[in-house]
Amino acid sequence: MKKIILNNYDEVSRAAADVYVQQLRNKPDSVLGLATGSTPLGLYAELVRKYQSGEIDFSKACSFNLDEYYPIRKSHPQSYDSFMHANLFSKVNFAQSRLPNGEAEDPQAECIKYDAEIEAAGGIDLQLLGIGLNGHIGFNEPSASYPMSTNLVKLTESTLKANSRFFDASDSQPTQALTMGFGAIFHAKSILLIITGANKAPVSRKLFDGVIHTDIPASLLLLHPDVTVIMDREASGANGA
Ligand code: PGA
Repeated sequence: MKKIILNNYDEVSRAAADVYVQQLRNKPDSVLGLATGSTPLGLYAELVRKYQSGEIDFSKACSFNLDEYYPIRKSHPQSYDSFMHANLFSKVNFAQSRLPNGEAEDPQAECIKYDAEIEAAGGIDLQLLGIGLNGHIGFNEPSASYPMSTNLVKLTESTLKANSRFFDASDSQPTQALTMGFGAIFHAKSILLIITGANKAPVSRKLFDGVIHTDIPASLLLLHPDVTVIMDREASGANGA
């Protein structure tokens, strides 16, 4: 696991965007695994800026997102579908983009279809990950066992609490999600994990103590041969967090 510590969120966003410039230069038809959450917002803004200035082109690339709430209408402002359209897809030129379908009537069938589509695309070249306060990646919550396939999961109290900030009191927050499993994530040729903010210092400290903690899903990434972690000083705990 390669670790890069930068001064702040903006530097992390810019460095992460450079990884995409390089990736698409080397392989314009890359299959990109994308993530939602607050952490990648700066990266996506940077990718939009680079696209507008002609520095990056997604026209041959396709993307698969890690997860989506279930059930949720795609048009719901807090669906990850809406998030991705608002922050990236409506502003750049991906050939094709796919998220797990939060409207699917049969979630199990949707999971099987999603994995088949990833496989048909040749698997993921570069998988972007954030990390939850509890160490989740995608919505793979701490558990005694981790499914390989895309699956329907029940969100933990800690994740529901962390994400409740996005939902109005009048809005019922979905308590389940469809998430890529460890199969597609681990088969990605390379993984880029971005971590920012002092609240992530405790979990990132555990990620780098050289031990696989089975209650911290992200610590399984120690087993992947090509993981780059770009983090800011606060998340690294360097500021005493
Ligand atoms: P965040 O979420 O980027 O909003 O902190 C990350 C995650 O929960 O995976």
